[in-house]
Amino acid sequence: MVNNSIRIRATASVANVSCGFDCIGYAISDPGDIVKIEIQESPGIKIAMSGIKHESIPLDPEKNTAGKAILSLLDAVGSKQGFKVHIEKGIPPGSGIGSSSASAAAAVFGANELLGNSVSLNDLLIHGLAGEAVASGGFHADNIAPTLFGGIILIRSYDPLDILNLPVPKNLFSTAVLPEMTINTKEAREILPKNIPLNTAVQQAGNLAGFTLGLHESDFELLGRSMVDHFAEPHRAKLIPGYNKVRQSALDSGAIGCGISGSGPAVFSLSDSLEKAEEIGRAMVNAFQNSGLESKAYCSPIHTKPPEILD
Ligand code: HSE
Repeated sequence: MVNNSIRIRATASVANVSCGFDCIGYAISDPGDIVKIEIQESPGIKIAMSGIKHESIPLDPEKNTAGKAILSLLDAVGSKQGFKVHIEKGIPPGSGIGSSSASAAAAVFGANELLGNSVSLNDLLIHGLAGEAVASGGFHADNIAPTLFGGIILIRSYDPLDILNLPVPKNLFSTAVLPEMTINTKEAREILPKNIPLNTAVQQAGNLAGFTLGLHESDFELLGRSMVDHFAEPHRAKLIPGYNKVRQSALDSGAIGCGISGSGPAVFSLSDSLEKAEEIGRAMVNAFQNSGLESKAYCSPIHTKPPEILD
């Protein structure tokens, strides 16, 4: 074992990206969670938390995304190592930008480093997913995979897991606007229909294929017309006050496309310059304000790196 403690920062992410329900996500640079992990002599995991809205997150390692992710890793490598874990939340829980995934990703990444780095980054994903499932009530990798690997990720298959890196065009920028409210991912998944009519599935498949081609060819016009969600958005838009106006304000300000980030309430848009991303952010914040919600915009390029070791 190399060190007794480590601090890791893992960033937020935008899942679904409109046409890729449960199968496309990208990482953004801000905000992020910082997780400190220390070796402890006694077995078991002790969790402490600080930061934004941490009070709503359980400290029981079986119910905590970071705790559960580490337990899954320990089980896989057959270790009884005990850890003290401190999670500093920079990403508000229930905001729709992968708050639970960031904690889980930082935790497995850090624990693996302390255990001698025996598990590859690819193989850490399954343990992060086990943690993520505690919060979302289902296996979906479109937050945790981009947070763990960076970039824009396609989950081509869940069984077996097949994770693919999509190209990140130069000049592609993200705006994620977080209104002052929360949506529980588990509940936002429960309101979705279990079956999709064939013609709806065809439209979604066409858009998803168009989106991936748009990334390959840096064709932002194709990206924009592919960013339509026929699966989740029609059912979830009503959970976000003023959603249609916020989306329209982004498009009117020059966004390539705009949609609900993950299960919301955050709303994201893509654009072709940082200046535009910031201008779109201001317009979206104004539109939320007109619907009675304060909000905050985070603008950045697509984040292309795995979690960062701070010290
Ligand atoms: N793909 C997941 C969902 C993301 O839409 O439920 C949750 O952040």
